[in-house]
Amino acid sequence: RQLIIPRRATDPPVVFHWLPIIGSAISYGNDPLSFFFECQKKYGDVFTFILLGRRVTVALGPKGNNFILGGKSTVFNTEDAYTHLTTPVFGKGVVYDVPNEVFMEQKRFVKVGLSTDNLKAYVGMIEDEIDEFVAHDPNFKVYQTNDINEWGSFDVITVMQEITILTASRTLQGKEVREGLTKSFAGLYNDLDGGFTPLNFMFPNLPLESYRKRDRAQAKMSDFYVNIIQKRRNGNTDHENDMIAALMQQKYRNGNVLSDREIAHMMIALLMAGQHTSSATGSWALLHIAANPKVGEALYKEQVDNFTGADGKMRPLTYDELRALPILDSVIRETLRIHPPIHSIMRYVRDDVPVPATLSAPSKDGIYIVPKGHFVMASPAVSQVDPAVWRQGQDWDPYRWNDSEGVAAQAYKMYADENGEKIDYGFGAVSKGTESPYQPFGAGKHRCIGEQFAYLQLGTLISTIIRKMELRIDKVPEHNYHVSELTVSSFPFSDARAQTMITMPKDP
Ligand code: HEM
Repeated sequence: RQLIIPRRATDPPVVFHWLPIIGSAISYGNDPLSFFFECQKKYGDVFTFILLGRRVTVALGPKGNNFILGGKSTVFNTEDAYTHLTTPVFGKGVVYDVPNEVFMEQKRFVKVGLSTDNLKAYVGMIEDEIDEFVAHDPNFKVYQTNDINEWGSFDVITVMQEITILTASRTLQGKEVREGLTKSFAGLYNDLDGGFTPLNFMFPNLPLESYRKRDRAQAKMSDFYVNIIQKRRNGNTDHENDMIAALMQQKYRNGNVLSDREIAHMMIALLMAGQHTSSATGSWALLHIAANPKVGEALYKEQVDNFTGADGKMRPLTYDELRALPILDSVIRETLRIHPPIHSIMRYVRDDVPVPATLSAPSKDGIYIVPKGHFVMASPAVSQVDPAVWRQGQDWDPYRWNDSEGVAAQAYKMYADENGEKIDYGFGAVSKGTESPYQPFGAGKHRCIGEQFAYLQLGTLISTIIRKMELRIDKVPEHNYHVSELTVSSFPFSDARAQTMITMPKDP
């Protein structure tokens, strides 16, 4: 890639910076949203900043989202932007290591594994897994004792990370992966995860120990999955309808089946794609529920109203019923609005692209042109709280979604029906709108396919926890992109439901 591109009169304005190569990396890295808002005030919706030697042109607002996410994938290219980061972690032959048409076929295969029948089967498994976790994990000691009159505490980040990997592996990843979730698997996971750092982005090939660890972990993780696949090919039938089973049955248009390595690498990609995203969203959701006891009560009432059985006890959740709980749905939707786990979406610019005048007023030299060799960046996180769109956009208010005429519902409608798709107000609708101000799952060709699974996982998590305990915290912490631990306190409330006070000094 070109690190230095001569400046032209039609280039978008460049964000002022003191350090030549580093550019704005520190301000962006410490607090991307504040950085975007400050730049937006100074330069408008389209500007370029220097990120470790790369020139990154940001386009903000719904029109900016549309410009980048609705742009042609041959010009705003995803493989070029991400492959040097993702291929060493996921492995060869999948996702951004292959031409986009091949990855699009692979995405279609993954959709088979996420069929409604599979999702229906997953609800009970996720519920069981969380029940087990709460019954045995030391974080929930208070819940486990008979003495229900004392406060306990748990670290919401660790708990959510563990529950996310346990529930994803029990369902999508499959029985063998769930059984193989040992300390050594966690170690491999962490070493792989260590491959997603700014250093890896800037210098893909440094002779560093963390890179060697990443590569060793990738090889071992890949073998771990290949071994599972080969055992299945050799007759092991002790598994359920999981993603590996679905991928083993798929064929490319040219008639080829996926190789064992490709399946292994797709599984690693899915593991990584769903882990931080769901666990961070779950943490934020629990924190907000804890800070808003009335919402916690409303969620609890929703569970009681919908799931109390003839014997007066709560019965298990089902997929269809879970999809039809408006308060739960709004809580997830609203959490994803102000805390979308993916705050920046990047593409590499393969050819000069004019910026539409409707997105950014032309400069004295005519319209702006994003030069070939730049990266472009969309941040739906900005449009999702933009005061021009949302009333008190920084406030977490799930009830904003219940007003069918309100801004939130309109934004969501745009998000859902821009491509003429059916709007499904319940539970993780699938849509591809590129000009909506609300896009936590991205938009366009590269839109997330894990949305329904994430809603299911988060919805089951929140329901299961809210049935068991009441959550409290004084204040939800500010965004902080560097904290990895956060303590939560809990107080048992009745034998059916414990009160959990979240008292964390730090931030997720
Ligand atoms: C793509 C968000 C969970 C698999 C994306 C994108 C976003 C996103 C914003 C677009 C990236 C881009 O355009 O560059 C989220 C959020 C999640 C979540 C907020 C949870 C709350 C999951 C899960 C899976 C998954 C659970 C897998 C089971 C994928 C895949 C892509 C994707 C395969 C496609 C990438 C592409 O086409 O280039 N996700 N995701 N995601 N996500 Fe998710």
